[in-house]
Amino acid sequence: MSRKLIIGNWKMHGRLARNAELIDALRAGLAACEAEVGVAVPTAYLSQASHALAGSTIALSAQDASRFADDGAYTGETSANMLADLGVSYVLLGHSERRQYFQEDNAVLREKIEAVLKAGLKPVLCIGETLAEREAGEHLLVTEGQLEVLKALELGDECIVAYEPVWAIGTGKVASIEQVAQMHAHLKQKLLPIVGCSVNIRVLYGGSVKSDNASAILATPNVDGALVGGASLDAESFKKICQAA
Ligand code: G3P
Repeated sequence: MSRKLIIGNWKMHGRLARNAELIDALRAGLAACEAEVGVAVPTAYLSQASHALAGSTIALSAQDASRFADDGAYTGETSANMLADLGVSYVLLGHSERRQYFQEDNAVLREKIEAVLKAGLKPVLCIGETLAEREAGEHLLVTEGQLEVLKALELGDECIVAYEPVWAIGTGKVASIEQVAQMHAHLKQKLLPIVGCSVNIRVLYGGSVKSDNASAILATPNVDGALVGGASLDAESFKKICQAA
């Protein structure tokens, strides 16, 4: 049984002093944690986090990467190679908030995933249905369509997908264990022919994961970890979630 992967997604939160306090608290509290832990830090603070995490077991993740793999005239962009230069291991791609506010679709996500893989980093493809899609009974089809970007890719030794029902993100309305179990089983079944049996598939759950529901979610079959938003900004809450794995 591989270790659970718990990534805290700070989203667009942080300041130098607060980041230092949070990372120091996580280093102290997670030293003996069973789970594999990462923090997805805003680009502006990746360098600070990289230094603050040095020597710890906590991995550094980015929240996005440019679709342009090579350096060039792309003002404002941060390439996957630059992220690798900063010690980043994982890169969240296709988070529902980026799909919503920046119109990221399968075409651009394909380019981003290819750039991240080319830089030797691990993409974490974020997928999930909206409330309207769930209520229309389209959630399985929608997430299956979002997996299309992974077809015919050299993924290396593992493929990581984060299932985050959009209606559960930041709402406190966590998906039921039955909903999580159904979707994660579905995704594992659909991913196998896409990535092949030699690739380790990990499907994380995200959407209102808190210290009081983490154990049940992480114990659900086919749940290989969690992507945690709000609760990851509080050291005690995030530590409890990681220790529940
Ligand atoms: O990427 C994780 C995030 O979307 C979940 O947010 O606040 O519901 O845990 P939250």
